[in-house]
Amino acid sequence: MRAKLVCVDRENPEQDLLDRAGGILKGGGLVAFPTETVYGLGGDALNPLASKKIYAAKGRPSDNPLIVHIARIEDLAALCTRVPEKALVLAQRFWPGPLTMIFPASDLVPRATTGGLDTVAVRFPSNKVAQGLILAAGGYVAAPSANTSGRPSPTTAARVAEDLGEAIDMILDGGPADIGLESTIVDFSGEEALILRPGYISLDMLRETIGEGRMDAGLTAEGGHPKAPGMKYRHYAPRADLFIVEGEEKAVVSEISRQVREKEEQGIRCGIFSSREHAPFYGKGVVLTAGSLAHEEEIAQGLYENLRLFDEKGVQVIYSEAFDTPHMGQAIMNRLLKAAGHKVITV
Ligand code: TXA
Ligand code: MG
Repeated sequence: MRAKLVCVDRENPEQDLLDRAGGILKGGGLVAFPTETVYGLGGDALNPLASKKIYAAKGRPSDNPLIVHIARIEDLAALCTRVPEKALVLAQRFWPGPLTMIFPASDLVPRATTGGLDTVAVRFPSNKVAQGLILAAGGYVAAPSANTSGRPSPTTAARVAEDLGEAIDMILDGGPADIGLESTIVDFSGEEALILRPGYISLDMLRETIGEGRMDAGLTAEGGHPKAPGMKYRHYAPRADLFIVEGEEKAVVSEISRQVREKEEQGIRCGIFSSREHAPFYGKGVVLTAGSLAHEEEIAQGLYENLRLFDEKGVQVIYSEAFDTPHMGQAIMNRLLKAAGHKVITV
């Protein structure tokens, strides 16, 4: 493996490590690092060659823009030509944190970083390692999730190494990501705040804070046209075929059990993605528990890791319960539906 995996203190990151990593970014290299959402693959956002390297390392289509990460609120102004008052209110409430906002881009931002768009996505992460790295790199770090394009996003450094170890220069290991799903993206380039990707910050939290906000209509419908280029790809996906089963709890458990029995009789290896509450009721198949319905943050945190584990266990078909939980449900179901290519069985 080419990349050096370096352990770093997640609360008080060692400055010499941050300087080394920052030096790599300043020199046009790539460093993966922890954030509170998922691990990011960082490059100097103001260097078009670094952005090109990011696309190449991930195998990502070049029309899919990167998020620029900052670590000082005063660095926002240089990136964009207009920041609406409501965006500042959101920044005050949720930055640093799992929120990305989109604005009209200034000339400072290379169009290689924005996938050719005249808008730029900006995020100020709360993870201390991320903040230290961004500052050591000069203030602006472009970072998509540090997975091979199309694979589930990595929530640990080991998963980054698995996907990208050969293609990048260094991996900062700051332990598992807290949230486990990517940031909420709010687009401020139009008239009204629009959620392009749901995350830890929900539509309700957005509306409570600024009194407005809508979900991008292209997100919900199968075959819709989402506004964030990245949301149109089948994504976050395990290798196995994934089906989501939704409906009344008992009916879901019995339908999944029936389908798994049938498939296993045909010699097809099945996985079941279950809440902790329902796991004991499944007799056959590889059962992985997402977490408890009473602690939905656990489900979000473990989603991607579990999808990768199903691959390692060699299952060919996965049945997942639906997780329409109150706070993280929108984000969890958004990722699951995409991973499933919208294959839903309603009982
Ligand atoms: O939590 C996160 O946001 C993580 C961590 C590393 O910060 N990053 C992340 O980046 O998820 P990525 O590249 O995997 O996803 C970025 C998403 C893509 O769907 C992309 O299309 C969208 O943001 N995006 C970026 N810039 C955009 C823009 N100017 N307009 C519309 N969508 C944009
Ligand atoms: Mg991604």
